[in-house]
Order: sequence, then structure tokens, then C-alpha cells
Amino acid sequence: MALSYKTHTTRFPELGTAPIPIKPCIDPAVFDAEREAVFRRCWLNVGRVELIPEPGEYFVRDIEMCHTSVLVVRGRDNVIRAFHNMCSHRANQVVWQRRGKCRVSFVCPFHGWAFDTRGKLISMTDERNFFNLDKQDLGLTEIQTDVWKGFIFIRINPQDDQSLEDYLGPVATTLKDYPFDELSKREWYEVDEKANWKVLLDAQLEGWHVPFLHKDSLAKSTAATGMLLRHSILEALGPHGLLGTEPPPVFNPTPLGKVSLKYGIGAYDAFAFKEPRWTDAKKYNLKGAMNLYFIFPNVIMGLMRDSYWMYNVWPVAVDRTIWEIGINTVPARNAGELFCQEYNKVGLRDTLMEDTATHEKVQQVLKSGAKEYFHFQDEELALRNFHHTVDACLEAMQKG
Ligand code: FES
Ligand SMILES: [Fe+2]
Repeated sequence: MALSYKTHTTRFPELGTAPIPIKPCIDPAVFDAEREAVFRRCWLNVGRVELIPEPGEYFVRDIEMCHTSVLVVRGRDNVIRAFHNMCSHRANQVVWQRRGKCRVSFVCPFHGWAFDTRGKLISMTDERNFFNLDKQDLGLTEIQTDVWKGFIFIRINPQDDQSLEDYLGPVATTLKDYPFDELSKREWYEVDEKANWKVLLDAQLEGWHVPFLHKDSLAKSTAATGMLLRHSILEALGPHGLLGTEPPPVFNPTPLGKVSLKYGIGAYDAFAFKEPRWTDAKKYNLKGAMNLYFIFPNVIMGLMRDSYWMYNVWPVAVDRTIWEIGINTVPARNAGELFCQEYNKVGLRDTLMEDTATHEKVQQVLKSGAKEYFHFQDEELALRNFHHTVDACLEAMQKG
């Protein structure tokens, strides 16, 4: 592919071309402001519906960035709701198990108050010994919840009545037929990183580091080592983003990779192929070999041939972030496919270890004061849009 220059950023003049300040990645005051302006106000993906297929089933997700623990439950009426996992009596976390099924009610382990799957307080122990309390007012505090294509999202402190689908905008429209539910096999890694959440996401929102940082892993099978990469698609979709990648011009898998490819296609090598396996790939609106969607503020979906990667990025402190990495694919039908999937899982792990190490290397020196700015080029448009969106959220909060 002939190289093009500066073709993307010019289409988004509102983003400018200025350097991006480092301070928001090291300043605890900015991190605290992001808590309210971004994480408490935006839709956040907390899981998928397959985690709780039956009425009464639940899971708990702690969101340290929002100072809360969230109980997500499928009610007896089949509606999925989320609540702060916090008892109305003296604030104990009502549910301690990470996942399970509520048989009768959620009973607080501290003094035995019981809540139903709609969050209603159904019994108080020693009720007559309390003073002027109305049970009606003492249910669990509900959190706004919505589901898009099996992904459960919550919004802790909504500032408007925008629906989840409106929030997702072009992401929802483009992926409306994507078969997420068929890619039901989920493996995952979790990395606890000493890095700011934006440093982590920045590195996953551009591909031109691949021939350099991943020259001994991901890029090894291609002739791309040391080459300059160009995304075939690079879009700011409101607060979100899209990156499209074409297959590399040359693909020579390692001997083990060849064995893996003989039996199936897993996520790791999938990007090497132009057409997804699905004959109706057109219907799924996939273009090229890999389409990577960023859903602001903390989700990346890498959609490929027969599989997708799902990253959920959870800030914990200004210099600490949990990175959840999901690998979703079709369940293996035989030992060969299983081997292929395992090969790809390990390959992705090795590649992402290179990323993780780099995020931490970056963070470790950010406070040195030696540099005040990051410099983004045209291929780093998605990062630029990301930083601008965070800034816009902070400004909106300040304006009140
Ligand atoms: S804190 Fe839950 S019953 Fe007391
Ligand atoms: Fe990487």
C-alpha cells in the first residue's frame, strides 16, 4: 500500500493538531475530576447477559473509580437491573458472593435485612425497635441500566435522558447485526497495571506501534517489521472511534502458527485474512481484516474473523488501572479448533505483555518533569479524539 500522509486529522479540524499535555495522566486532582465528569456520568459496560441467563441470577462488579460495588440482577420479571450493593441500614454490602442465584431474597449478612430482585426492602429484622422508618423508602438504590446486543451498561449519575443506543450512535447502527451472541466462548486475562487509564488506552488506540513494539510477536509472521502502518479506516464517531486494518501484504506464520491455522482461525492470526468466515460478512459491516471500535470511556472491541477481543479498562488510581481482556469466539467443535484457540490465546497474551510493560515504562517517567507534552501524529487521531472528549467532559462538569 502506498503511504499516505495526514489524511485523517484534517477531516476533524475541531480536534486540532496541538500537542497533548501530560499533566492529566499524573495529576490526582484531574483523576478525581474524571471520576465524576466521566465515569459517574457515562454509560459503562459491566458485563454480558449470558452471565445471568435465569431470573434471580446476579453478579457483582466493584467499580472503584465510582467508589461503589454494583449488584446486577435479572429480576423474576426477566428485567435486568443494577443497584448499589449497599444496605439501607448501615451500608454493608448486601451481596458478598461475586456471582450466583437469588433463591428467595438478598439477605444482608450484617443484621439480616432482606431485599427482593427489584431492590425492594421486604423485611427488616427487629423492625419495631426502629424509629419512624418507612420501608418503602429503604430499598436498594437503583442505577440506570440498559442492554445493547447483550452488553449490560449502567449509568450511575445521568445528566440527561439520552438512551444507551443514542449514546452509542454509529457504533450501535453499524454493529446492529454483528453476531456477538454466537461468539459465546469467553476466555479472559486481567492485568493490574501501574499506569494511568489514558496511557493504557492511548496505546490500544493506534496500530502503528505494532511493527515496532510487537516485532517479535504479533508482527513476526508478516513482512511488516519496521514498516509504517496505515489504518485503512480511522474515524472519530462522536466520543467513540473506529480503526480499520487491512491484512498485511505478507503472512508467513511460525511453524506452530501453521499447525494452528490448519485446524481453525483464532483471534491472533485472524487479522491476516481479508474476508471473515461468515458468508454474509457484508451484513455485519466488517471491512478489511480487523475493525476496532472504541466506546468512550473505557471499552475497546476488536472485531475479526470469527472472534472479537473485548477490553474493559477500569481506573483504580491516577497511576493504576485494571485491564480486562476478553477473547470471545465460537465454541470449539473438535480438538483441532481447541488447539487453535489456545494457540491464539497465548499469542495474544504475549503480545499484550509487551503492551503492558510499555504502559508502565511510560507511566514511570511521566512525573519526571522532563517533558510536558505528548505528540500525536495523524495515525493517532483516535487518541486525540479520546483526550478531547475527556477534556470536554471535564469542562461540561465545571460549567455545571
Ligand atoms: S447493614 Fe445491612 S442489615 Fe445492617
Ligand atoms: Fe500493542
